Amino acid sequence: MKRKILFVDDEPNVLQGLKRMLRGMRNEWDMVFAEGGEEAMRILEGDSFEVLVTDMRMPGMHGAELLKRVKNKYPEIVRIVLSGHSDQELILKSVRTAHQYLSKPCDAETLKNTVSRACALRALLKDETLKQVVSNIDTLPSLPRLYQEIMAELQSENASIESIAKIISGDVGMSAKILQMVNSAFFALPRHIESIAQAVNLLGLETIKALVLSAQIFSQFENKGVSESFLEKLWSHCMGTAAFAKVIAKEEHLSREMADDAFLAGMLHDVGKLILSTGLSDKYSAIVKRAGENGASLREIEQEELGTTHGAVGAYLMGLWGFADNVVEAIAFHHTPDACPAKTMGGLAAVHAANALEHALGPEGMKMEEASLDREFLDQAGVGEKVEQWALACESAIE
Ligand SMILES: [Fe+2]
Ligand SMILES: [Fe+2]
Repeated sequence: MKRKILFVDDEPNVLQGLKRMLRGMRNEWDMVFAEGGEEAMRILEGDSFEVLVTDMRMPGMHGAELLKRVKNKYPEIVRIVLSGHSDQELILKSVRTAHQYLSKPCDAETLKNTVSRACALRALLKDETLKQVVSNIDTLPSLPRLYQEIMAELQSENASIESIAKIISGDVGMSAKILQMVNSAFFALPRHIESIAQAVNLLGLETIKALVLSAQIFSQFENKGVSESFLEKLWSHCMGTAAFAKVIAKEEHLSREMADDAFLAGMLHDVGKLILSTGLSDKYSAIVKRAGENGASLREIEQEELGTTHGAVGAYLMGLWGFADNVVEAIAFHHTPDACPAKTMGGLAAVHAANALEHALGPEGMKMEEASLDREFLDQAGVGEKVEQWALACESAIE
């Protein structure tokens, strides 16, 4: 079946240019071109689309307004901005409604890849309602103490970029959102990010202030579904997994870039839990409760009740937010590495093992046999015998 993509721009020349540029995709995509926001909304009423690519500065209904309406009315559509105007005010108006940003002029390859990738990601989540819930999420909750700390720091007269970087690095929700901003073409930053601190430094104090204080890209966890202690435990597990993934990557002499990505993927591997507790608060807290009661794993109950797991949900949203494929892959398959076509030592293997080792060596103190480590997969990747060595390296990293 062809994918339905809607392109919106007020300039007929630009639309003509896009048509020409994407002619080669005719067999895969069913492309519709709208001259402006009003026309786009009319088209959307009569037909369903998977991806929307829109300009920002348009007379009549501007891009930010169109994105807002589409997000409210058709949340399942992937929303991509393609704009030549990098003025900050416009960006701030759309940071909570756009999934990704591309800047004009955009080469055919980048545009094709971005749209194709969005289409491919949609296959990760089959359930339409869940797809709507997840695509609709624009901020991830932060731990209340860290949220208050960052707000106080940003509002203080002598706010420092170092302390801001430190607070953001300690919070999964803030880190994910900052990385989404860095992935966005509007800020024209390098694609490869070494650490959250580097991402914060690249954006700079003024941009972070505007993003957090005006555009409100961070939000505070509200105690409506899962408990705050669930969140605290999740945080410590994610930070531990990130650190272990990096240790393992180093033990295996993976490239610096792969080790950085393993760290980020480790930190975000369970972001799906955060997404589900934001989007489906009551339902997900019932799932978490059931998993605690009868010994079944959280993942099994998620599968039973939602038809999917936190791995797929996290990978879906992080993919929409423009994270690199290897990070998305590690998030998607961290419990089921065997389901990933590539059976090699890389970020996924590091995150998979780091997750299990954190359960065993971290505060939870789970027995290694119960920490669901896929030995067969690690054997296939040629590192099955390394687990004990990794465990020792991780243990000494804790100390
Ligand atoms: Fe997990
Ligand atoms: Fe985990």
